[in-house]
Amino acid sequence: MENYDQLIQSAMVEIDSSNSIELLENIRIKYFGKNGIVSQELKKISKLNDEKKRKIGKELNEFKSTFFKNVELKKVRIRKQEISEQLKKESIDISLPPRSSSFIEAKIHPITQTTNEIVSILGSMGLSYEEGPDVEDDFHNFTALNIPKNHPARQMHDTFYVGEKNEGLVLRTHTSPVQIRTLMNKTLPLRIFAPGRTYRCDSDITHTPMFHQVEGLVVEEGVTFANLKWFLEKFCKIFFNNDDINLRFRPSYFPFTEPSAEVDINCKVESGKIHLGEGDSWMEILGCGMVHPNVFKMSLGEKNMNTNGFAFGMGIERLAMLKYGMPDLRNFFESDLRWLRHYGFSFFETTDLSWR
Ligand code: PHE
Repeated sequence: MENYDQLIQSAMVEIDSSNSIELLENIRIKYFGKNGIVSQELKKISKLNDEKKRKIGKELNEFKSTFFKNVELKKVRIRKQEISEQLKKESIDISLPPRSSSFIEAKIHPITQTTNEIVSILGSMGLSYEEGPDVEDDFHNFTALNIPKNHPARQMHDTFYVGEKNEGLVLRTHTSPVQIRTLMNKTLPLRIFAPGRTYRCDSDITHTPMFHQVEGLVVEEGVTFANLKWFLEKFCKIFFNNDDINLRFRPSYFPFTEPSAEVDINCKVESGKIHLGEGDSWMEILGCGMVHPNVFKMSLGEKNMNTNGFAFGMGIERLAMLKYGMPDLRNFFESDLRWLRHYGFSFFETTDLSWR
């Protein structure tokens, strides 16, 4: 072959019209592979005279460098093209509406929903959020709450002990130890609430070993039982979204409050359904009282014994069952998806705060 122009021309056309890396590779093999066209030509060179050798060698070398430069350029173009096609394929249309089914599937557990409602109501009523550990020590769970060792009230609590009994660690039997923690760590006056998990070694239709309470504590000059009564009445009317609810304060006993009361709300049971704020039956919902001087003595010291404060504690499951008509406590913790789909709350269901 004397003139390579033709060959170069057709190689360039082939490179230009190939649209994949594999095709380019095939073209390379066609010209520069072991038995490729150019490789064959190079083999023939040795048989030529010096002048021709030089001339053809130069031409073939130019061919080679032009060829590979163009192959590289084409490769870059092909890659760019591939990337832009991939981007086009993977682009997301953010203007599409969301698939509603994924929101329907997921539900908020009634305990979470009820806790959130309580948090927003108590927060709006001027109390601030506190929390304490689930694993408590004997001092915070009992002693500082005026329940000394061997006090019969310790038996009432069916305590879970953690580790060795002499270590004095327990799973908190109520949220009241948060009263002690805040009294000892914060300065007066105090207006706090503390929701959380509590534990008692008890399991039947109305008890689960783990349950939830919310504690309330207001400590300030001149606070009386009348303030406590007003506060709880207001809370219940807002929480149950019902102004007809009546509260009954029944004298009771807690070691850490004096006087103490258990609070009932009025209701009527009709064909298995509970109607709150009607009728003359009563349903217990919480315990409360004026903070016992011994509690102040143990948390703040002797000189603060005459401080005034009220405290209350409510069971969150009980409040949820009454508000949302859930008949069986045990369902709360059985992780039955059918129950959760029925009683759970959707994500965008917000707490009604229109009363504010
Ligand atoms: N801690 C008490 C209980 O678990 C409830 C309570 C709290 C009572 C605060 C009075 C004051 O039963």
